[in-house]
Amino acid sequence: MSKSPRLTIEDLRAEIEGKEILKGLSLDIKGGEVHAIMGPNGTGKSTLASTLMGHPKYEVMGGSVTFNDEDLLEMAVDERARAGLFLAMQYPSEITGVTNADFLRSAINARREEGNEISLIRFIRQMEAKMKDLEMNPEFAHRYLNEGFSGGEKKRNEILQMMLLEPSLVILDEIDSGLDIDALRIVANGVNSLRSEDRAFLIITHYQRLLNYITPDFVHVMMQGRIVKSGGPELAQRLENEGYDWIKEELGIVDETVGQEEEEFQVPMNTKAPR
Ligand SMILES: Nc1ncnc2c1ncn2[C@@H]1O[C@H](COP(=O)(O)OP(=O)(O)OP(=O)(O)O)[C@@H](O)[C@H]1O
Ligand SMILES: [Mg+2]
Repeated sequence: MSKSPRLTIEDLRAEIEGKEILKGLSLDIKGGEVHAIMGPNGTGKSTLASTLMGHPKYEVMGGSVTFNDEDLLEMAVDERARAGLFLAMQYPSEITGVTNADFLRSAINARREEGNEISLIRFIRQMEAKMKDLEMNPEFAHRYLNEGFSGGEKKRNEILQMMLLEPSLVILDEIDSGLDIDALRIVANGVNSLRSEDRAFLIITHYQRLLNYITPDFVHVMMQGRIVKSGGPELAQRLENEGYDWIKEELGIVDETVGQEEEEFQVPMNTKAPR
């Protein structure tokens, strides 16, 4: 088996179209751990996910990210995927003309050595088994990727990809949004079935509800493009009960979003995510 993964983010700064969104974010994630990131809208959570995956729109301006002792920021997107990173996006793209099955098989083979591609029979067997686990209708294998999928169907399909790719660092951006109650349980079971010492999870969510199913080891709160508070599952519970105002008061934050250029209300610089 591969060795236990480790992601270390230090003082990461990233901008989009000249606007700084990530403003000194630090986070350390090890194999076997589940980290949840919560935070109000527009505080940079999806930007963090996209920056880690190497989305070309986001420009890294400072800080460092190492994954298994390698400089992640120096790696191309496909190299990051081959290294074991996986992102289930908040808004999965629709791709007309590429069937779900073709996409999944290409994604698996892209991570394998040339000459060691998965056989068609083996692939179909695996895909069908995972689709059954996720209670997906087999017809979804032959539909174009995400085209016309309902919100919940797209999310379930992201989890199907995760289960087939077996990544070592899984980033889930609002995987629970749009899922009905039964689908939430099914998706959480899929995630829990992959929890292991050689895999780590970064789960972005707005709701404690998901964390009732997937118990996180650490919960972090993002505001103003950085992590301003970290704790255990009880932190998510408190946010559910009390919202974010108490954190803003505690830290003297007036506007939690990343938008304010002139009147920047900086949080103290010593709020590094604890381990
Ligand atoms: N292409 C862009 N141009 C300008 N601003 C952008 C662009 N992409 C993102 N932003 C801004 O960056 C900020 C952070 O966005 P991001 O999507 O990371 O927030 P988020 O924390 O994921 O929010 P949510 O909880 O609503 O998903 C927002 O204010 C957003 O408008
Ligand atoms: Mg988002």
